[in-house]
This record gives sequence, C-alpha cells and structure tokens, in this order.
Amino acid sequence: SAADKGGYRHFMAKEIAEQSTVLGAAVKYYLSNREGQHTLETGLDFSGIDRVVMVACGTASLACFTAKYWFEQIAKLPVEVDIASEFRYREPPVSDRTLALFVSQSGETADTLAALRYCAGKVGKIVSIVNVAESSIARESDVVLPILAGPEIGVASTKAFTCQLMVLAALTLQAARQREVLDGAALAEHVDQLMRVPGQVADAMTCEPQVQAISAQLAQYKDAIFLGRGAMYPLALEGALKLKEISYIHAEGYASGELKHGPIALIDKDMPVVVLTPADNMFDKTVSNMEEVRARGGKIVMVSDAAGINKAGDGSWQTVAMPRVDGPFAPIVYAVAVQLLAYHTAVEKGTDVDQPRNLAKSVTVE
Ligand code: G6P
Repeated sequence: SAADKGGYRHFMAKEIAEQSTVLGAAVKYYLSNREGQHTLETGLDFSGIDRVVMVACGTASLACFTAKYWFEQIAKLPVEVDIASEFRYREPPVSDRTLALFVSQSGETADTLAALRYCAGKVGKIVSIVNVAESSIARESDVVLPILAGPEIGVASTKAFTCQLMVLAALTLQAARQREVLDGAALAEHVDQLMRVPGQVADAMTCEPQVQAISAQLAQYKDAIFLGRGAMYPLALEGALKLKEISYIHAEGYASGELKHGPIALIDKDMPVVVLTPADNMFDKTVSNMEEVRARGGKIVMVSDAAGINKAGDGSWQTVAMPRVDGPFAPIVYAVAVQLLAYHTAVEKGTDVDQPRNLAKSVTVE
C-alpha cells in the first residue's frame, strides 16, 4: 500500500531515501570513538587469521568486492572475493587460519548457504553479514553481524548494499586495530571518516533533481558503461547492475584502466559513460581515461565532487555533484548517485521498478 511506501511512489525510492538514517543506526551500533579507540560490538577476533574469503551473490558480492580494497589497503589482510555459485563447486582450499565471510540481505540465498556449508568445519570462523537475523545463513554462522537496514522490499537492493558496506568498513577498522597495522591517529581518522558517512549520504541526496534530468535523457539510450578506479570500480559494477536490473538498459561496469583493452571499441555518440571519480589520488588517472572517451564522442556523465568537476568537468555531457568525501569510504556515498540514476531512468521508461521482470528478491533455489 501507499502507506507502507511512506509517501514515496516506490519502495525503492523510499529505501534510497532512508539510507542516511539506517546508516546512522549502523554507525551507532558498531562504532564508538572514545579517545580515538573504536569498538566493534561483536568483539570479532582477527588474530590468527591470515586470509579472508568473502562469498555472496549479486549486489552483496559487490559489497564484498568493495571491502576487498579496504581490507587489503587498511587492514593489510588478503581477501578473496567470490560469487557463491562458483565458490561452492570449485573446491577452493581454506584453512583454520581463514575467516569465511558470507554477505546476504535475505540470509536465504541457496548458493551462499551452500558455500557456507562447504566451509563449515574447514575454516577458523564463519561470519555472516545479514539483514534478516533469523535466517538460515545467520543460524549456521559462528558470528552474525546484522546490517540493521530494516525490511528491504524493492527487489533491487539499495539500503542493504550501503549498510553491508558500513558493516564491512567497521570490520576493516576492527581488523586494522587488532593487527596493529595502523597507528592510533590514522585509525582515529578513519573512524571519524566513517562516522561522517551518514551525513554525507544525506548531502548526496541533493543531487536528485539533477540526476532525474539526466535520467530523462539516459532513458533514450540502449547501452551504458560505468567506469571507476580503486574502490570505485566495484561501485561501477553495481551501477551497471542496478541500471540493467530495473531499466533494462544494457550496461557494463569496467575498471577505468581497462577501458583501452576492449570497451573503448564501443564508444561513440550513442554510448553514455558514467564515470565515478572523486577528486582523490587516483583522479588524474581517471580523468585521462575520460579524455579517451571524450575524444571518441562518448557522452560522459561525470560523478565527482566540486573540486573534481571544477578541474575536469568541462566537456562532460552531464555532471553530478557529490559532497567532498575524504578517505576510503566514498563508495558508500557515491552509491546514492548510481541508485538514483537507475531509479529515475526506470521510472522514465515506465518499468516495474520494485518488481523488475524475471528477478526475485530472494533466490532460494539453485
Ligand atoms: C537476488 C536479488 C539481488 C540480491 C541477490 C543476493 O538476485 O535480486 O538484489 O543482491 O539475490 O541476495 P541476498 O539476499 O543473498 O543478498
């Protein structure tokens, strides 16, 4: 009913808009920042762990892929990410020094549950990050970390994705602290950066009118490419997934640096290219990839902060302004832009946004 949608036209719109609030709850639950020390509620222990394997399906697997960048760069812990349907049959070697992490909104995805069962008895610890705390995946885990997103009704995952990222970010900082790979000041800075994310997500929502105007045009195209570098690469994959799931526009995500190894052949005036690029230390590299697109007539939608847009926005077809986000957690904030772009494009095309054709919210069969 309309009431359940809280006045929004679709659950997806409501769930996008809720993100700042639910992320705020997750931050409160997982982090406190007394004298630069942060604590994670679960007390999960990373000592004795030499590797993390993260296994999931769909959008949840892209949350894992984003977290790989954080875990490896910040906590110096090697991470393998796999989709559950591949992991479960590959017989991947794991050991008692492996922490196996399963991420699932529903906690009932058949392939993810089977991957968990493969790990049972073989790994040091089975941890799950779920939205539904009474789910099968939660029940069979040693440690359960709830994402606290509240019920997610729209088939295309939005707030569950950003809340998964929030928990994974908090976990990264926990691991970094226990492994003593960051000094106290650097750790405290990352904690502060993470605590600022819910407010930045609220600020990011102000891009909505601009994104809606872009979507009216994007809806006319048949294809789109999303580009990102570093932790923005998995978000490029997520942006492409969201757009194809609900607007049925064919979309692909690529690492910016991979452009010249294939997808550049597709670039012409009919190819919108969404570039996710905060003005960070990778910015100049991504801008040069953007120039390659522009030189071939591609239509760039540049998603960046004011500094980035001022520096390199000229010549873009469209720009989307994000708040300034210092530090590694910008993908959580930039997720808002790709979600809104997919949402408004789908609304423009008149598709069934909350229940896209052929898709299910929870896939409990193989
Ligand atoms: C389905 C949904 C996706 C979701 C995936 C994994 O395909 O349509 O939105 O990302 O399953 O679901 P889970 O509940 O395990 O996160």
